[in-house]
Amino acid sequence: MSLRVRDLTVHIGGRRVVDGVSFDVADGQRLGLVGESGSGKSLTALAILGLLPDGARATGSIRWNDRELIGMPDRQLAGIRGDEIGIVFQEPRTALNPIRTVGRQIAEAVRIHERISRREARRRAIAEAARVHLPDPERIVDRYPHQLSGGQRQRVAIAMALACRPRLLIADEPTTALDVTIQAEILDLLQGLVADDGMSLVFITHDLAVLSQIAADAVVLDHGRVVEQAPVRTLLTAPTSPVAQGLLRDATATVWKPEGRA
Ligand SMILES: Nc1ncnc2c1ncn2[C@@H]1O[C@H](COP(=O)(O)OP(=O)(O)OP(=O)(O)O)[C@@H](O)[C@H]1O
Ligand SMILES: [Mg+2]
Repeated sequence: MSLRVRDLTVHIGGRRVVDGVSFDVADGQRLGLVGESGSGKSLTALAILGLLPDGARATGSIRWNDRELIGMPDRQLAGIRGDEIGIVFQEPRTALNPIRTVGRQIAEAVRIHERISRREARRRAIAEAARVHLPDPERIVDRYPHQLSGGQRQRVAIAMALACRPRLLIADEPTTALDVTIQAEILDLLQGLVADDGMSLVFITHDLAVLSQIAADAVVLDHGRVVEQAPVRTLLTAPTSPVAQGLLRDATATVWKPEGRA
């Protein structure tokens, strides 16, 4: 189960906002996609999932196992999304439907890909809620997103992404919108689940402190281009690109000392 991206270019209105990006994610590999705001991280993720915004067009190649995702009809892509490739977005509020209970939303992915009864769907939702350590799973599945805290909503989003046990998880800044203490809890949770399921991971962040906790390898983007590709350990000790050097300064300046971590 591997992802192979070659010369991925995303065109928007004559601009190449992602420009010739290539990388691989081997089975079980945890790759960080790093870069400053606007460097093309999210559009790279969205291109993989076939979820680019209107007016954006992808060229190049994205191979998921033996299938080419660029140009794949949406019906087929929809069969892969959620089932084989899961996604968690930065802001859980946008990922969740405000007028559906969280239990229905967790079970929805399963119901799309597997034929199961309502009763079974509820049972699955409770089990998945428990797996992401939501409190009182039997009752929380009947609640609505606004009745949960931000951290709990992000746990719901993770449960939705993982309910079908995808082989690859794409997480686009999944902790950025959360308080620092909650960020650490969510990272721990994700790390544990990725390890348990042995899935591959593409983790998007601009925060090298966060990156160091979850990914082993990294691709650094700048203005849509890959400017560095290295093990995370190398990135933290001897980054070569100005972007990575800047991100390292930012991370060190805030909460974190690289000496204690690497
Ligand atoms: N729908 C859109 N229409 C036009 N331009 C867009 C659109 N979405 C993104 N862009 C542009 O494409 C570039 C890359 O955007 P992208 O969202 O991938 O950046 P990012 O690295 O995810 O940034 P951030 O860290 O802020 O999330 C940016 O310059 C952005 O302005
Ligand atoms: Mg983004």
